[in-house]
Amino acid sequence: MSPSTANSVQFYDAHPPPTDFYAEVIKGLHASPKQIPPKFFYDETGSRLFDAICDCPEYYPTRTEMLLLERHATEIRNLIGEDCLLIEPGSGSSQKVRLLLDALQPAAYQPMDISRRYLIEAAQNLAADYPWLDVYAVCSDFTSELPLPFSPPHRHKVAFFPGSSIGNFEPVDAVRFLQRIAAAVGPGGGLLIGVDLKKDPQILHDAYNDAAGITADFNLNLLTRINRELDGEFDPATFRHHAFYNEALGRIEMHLHSKTHQTVSVAQQAFRFECDESIHTECSYKYTIGEFARLAGKSGLQLQQAWTDEQNLFSLQFYQVTTTRA
Ligand code: AVI
Repeated sequence: MSPSTANSVQFYDAHPPPTDFYAEVIKGLHASPKQIPPKFFYDETGSRLFDAICDCPEYYPTRTEMLLLERHATEIRNLIGEDCLLIEPGSGSSQKVRLLLDALQPAAYQPMDISRRYLIEAAQNLAADYPWLDVYAVCSDFTSELPLPFSPPHRHKVAFFPGSSIGNFEPVDAVRFLQRIAAAVGPGGGLLIGVDLKKDPQILHDAYNDAAGITADFNLNLLTRINRELDGEFDPATFRHHAFYNEALGRIEMHLHSKTHQTVSVAQQAFRFECDESIHTECSYKYTIGEFARLAGKSGLQLQQAWTDEQNLFSLQFYQVTTTRA
């Protein structure tokens, strides 16, 4: 848990112990309906599959958000100002932030991710490409903590949370998470966030059911990870990916359905599956700009500016902290 150096990148390790994965999977498989939190998609294979999803023609969020970042980088710099500490929870490959760095000129960048090797690789690549930037990589589960081990005391702080990852939180958890962001960046700090918008359900359906089957592989990889890390005996071929838009709740749901009646052992415990019974693996909430601004308002964040594309597929929103409630 102490700071150390990995090449030119400062590294801090607060990775959750593997027991968290064990405990949450066992609890989720005992629950009715069965469920496993989406944060566990992102082992090394899952992180790479997610990058491949982002390149799928049907998955519009990534390319639309990148277009918005490129188009509005100067306006964003004018709102944020130079020399900030830029914090990115769930930074993954740290690709999108590259679209901001030249315009924004932050003093330091703190990527945070649960996948240690992936985080270090991405941070080192970034540090090599931006030699003027201090990079502080923090390995942690950002859904439960937002450590700032390298934070210079007087630097103003801005969180960058792109990709509509906020959609993967239940709305009440999203409010709590945004409260923690507000507390971490402090009064006067900011949040630049990507939020996926409500739209034609067919566009949403296609985005989570790509023709190449990469989203299906991403979903099924969870079973392979359980087999490897928790002594599981899932046969992924006996499960199928199912994703649909739940219009009443304004969210995409992803599930893994058992194709047969079967019993599967995980960590020496037996779990029964009826034919077609599912494990709920992800929700991805979609918002209107007004809905999201109201939700963020409950966390002490005030909308300053929102940008969308011509088709209103996706939004980039900038908030300022008015009060901290965490
Ligand atoms: C990371 N997150 C915002 C993605 C989403 O769209 O909810 C994860 C994802 N799941 C399936 N495809 C992409």
